[in-house]
Amino acid sequence: MSFRIQPTPVARPNRCQLFGPGSRPAIFEKMAASAADVINLDLEDSVAPSDKDSARQNVIDAIGSIDWGTKTLSVRINGLDTPYWYRDVVELLENASERLDQIMIPKVGCAADLYAVDALVTAVERAQGRTKQIAFEVIIESAAGIAHVEEIAAATPRLQAMSLGAADFAASMGMATTGIGGTQANYYMYHEGKNYWSDPWHWAQSAIVAACRTHGVLPVDGPYGDFSDDEGFRAQARRSATLGMVGKWAIHPKQVALSNEVFTPSEEAMTEAREILEAMEAAKANGEGATVYKGRLVDIASIKQAEVIVKQSEMISSS
Ligand code: COA
Ligand code: MG
Repeated sequence: MSFRIQPTPVARPNRCQLFGPGSRPAIFEKMAASAADVINLDLEDSVAPSDKDSARQNVIDAIGSIDWGTKTLSVRINGLDTPYWYRDVVELLENASERLDQIMIPKVGCAADLYAVDALVTAVERAQGRTKQIAFEVIIESAAGIAHVEEIAAATPRLQAMSLGAADFAASMGMATTGIGGTQANYYMYHEGKNYWSDPWHWAQSAIVAACRTHGVLPVDGPYGDFSDDEGFRAQARRSATLGMVGKWAIHPKQVALSNEVFTPSEEAMTEAREILEAMEAAKANGEGATVYKGRLVDIASIKQAEVIVKQSEMISSS
């Protein structure tokens, strides 16, 4: 480990973030009743320009009037390249109740984007005498966002989570795709008459995870557009979990259970993690730094791997 200790992200479950358009208040109660850990009320791309003002008002009303339980309540504001975002921030922080936990800033391209939002949020919070400091989450969904991902992760102590937004990311990168996340038909290796699909999101996800882990931010996988494809969602979510992400978005309520299933450590994974920790305790008692578990090497690094699973499971069950 470097002299600088890796910071720990906020200890709250973030297995699933359920989205709903701010222009569709009829679904807000259903969102609140869902099993998602995080709710994202959207003012950005699921809301038509003509509905921006009314959606903002719907969201402000709903923050104060609906029982959101213990969920993290987040509002996605409009991008900094639009005429809407400053009014989203000002009106939310002047008028929404203190139940609001977080705002999501889309399409961030550099640390200065967050500096600008932080300055505005801080000023309105002070002017209003708000006692709870609003947290931030961001979406990496542009070439600039991924190129500057580390400075973005380090930009402000308000930042708690960072998501990959596959569709806007693909467009910004000029990728020849139309689907939102998941397998891309033309991204394959060819060997002896067969196609083998590879993962075009892998490097961007890994870059996000590394930036997040360096700066104590939760890395999250974004949307999977085909909500009739449960196995496709599961496969994408499992790859994300394997790479170190803690959760995934749901753009339809049926994806919430799938996401919770993948991002909650299974009984099987917990049993194995505990057995590895026990095996290493026994090894340490014998003055050894490595031992054999189920025919394979486990050593001091295995303790840290097992602890990731145990700590995540304990944090989820205690929340
Ligand atoms: N959250 C909670 N409940 C939702 C919901 C959501 N995001 N989307 C739909 N529902 C409800 C419907 O009201 C319906 O409820 P009912 O059984 O009581 O009638 C039920 O879930 C089934 O909905 P369904 O008919 O399958 O979907 P739909 O056609 O109403 O809506 C979408 C589909 C994709 C348009 C809608 O889910 C949606 O707007 N998703 C979020 C989009 C978004 O926010 N995008 C921005 C981030 S990428
Ligand atoms: Mg987007």
